[in-house]
Amino acid sequence: MTGHAIPMTDQLLNLFDYERAAQARVATPTWEYQAGGANDEVTLRANRAAWDELAIRFRTMIDVSTRSTATTILGAPVSMPIFVAPTAMQKLAHPDGECGMARATAQAGTLLVVSTTATTGLSEVAAEVPEAPKWFQVYVYSGREHTEALVREAAAAGYRALVLTVDTPVLGRRERDIRSGFTLPPGLEIKNAVDAGMGAVPTATGESSGLMRHFRGLHDPAITPRDIRWLREISGLPVVVKGIVRGDDARRAIDGGASAIIVSNHGGRQLDTAIATARALPEVVAAVNGAVEVYVDGGIRRGTDVLKALAMGARAVLLGRPVLWGLAMNGAAGAQHVLELLRDELDLAMALTGSPSLSDITPDLLAGARAG
Ligand code: GLV
Repeated sequence: MTGHAIPMTDQLLNLFDYERAAQARVATPTWEYQAGGANDEVTLRANRAAWDELAIRFRTMIDVSTRSTATTILGAPVSMPIFVAPTAMQKLAHPDGECGMARATAQAGTLLVVSTTATTGLSEVAAEVPEAPKWFQVYVYSGREHTEALVREAAAAGYRALVLTVDTPVLGRRERDIRSGFTLPPGLEIKNAVDAGMGAVPTATGESSGLMRHFRGLHDPAITPRDIRWLREISGLPVVVKGIVRGDDARRAIDGGASAIIVSNHGGRQLDTAIATARALPEVVAAVNGAVEVYVDGGIRRGTDVLKALAMGARAVLLGRPVLWGLAMNGAAGAQHVLELLRDELDLAMALTGSPSLSDITPDLLAGARAG
């Protein structure tokens, strides 16, 4: 090895490098919270494995000298079919927090989804990137008037859609968080909840993390398709329903007024042993039958994963943990780099599959093939 060689561990060449580096950087309870899944984490691992198990039947002898990853997501032009998932409490990862994530996403030319459970108020995040496309993720509070106030604020602040998370009537059991006694450290708060008069995140007890206690006290476990129309009416915004893994649920959501569907199992953080999202996607795409756009998240780490999702009919994918790793490593610049790495990997996968444009990413690239 020469004196000039860069140690391998310093190189952030892909999303897994960011994962390792972020683990070494952030506080242990934060790491456990962000990395962990529910119970035995079977679904957490399955989400990732399911993408790897799909093999690509690549095409050759096609002119791929000009390519584009640009598309639209619910009408908003974006530079790539990859956007930022709602993840909670981003100031845990880096002081730039949600505002840094907003800048990163805008710089990368894509769409941001801001969580209700943010450590920054929704209007402050929106003001950071006034022109950029952004959606607001909604957990419905039992005190419906608080949710009503938040979604009206979101509409006034320039959010273009609401994302209703439906896989979390109650919070899943994340044993890592119980063991670490996870709660928000002093100085951080769930700003939207505090602004709505709902107080701070409680401390952990021996059986519950602070976040589990927060959810139990405040969140409405009785969400049905009627709430989709309610949210549309009070906000005037389209509602995207997140957390669907079945065709019949996708149809119920659309009948209830959903404008798009996100196939998701909450990154393996809710029901353990739930179906991997790559396996659920074809059923949902078939049931939706082109009525609305379908997006997917869960375990996406490589450009080839994005290509596979699109080949199965997804319009775009969402990234959750990897952008948090980017934020942890280098604030907004790190999160932007993560998005751009994945966009470059997608571009390469397009070149190597004979897909100059996203519309060339068709089901025959996967049909019947299984890796390994
Ligand atoms: C919140 O939504 C979480 O998954 O922790």
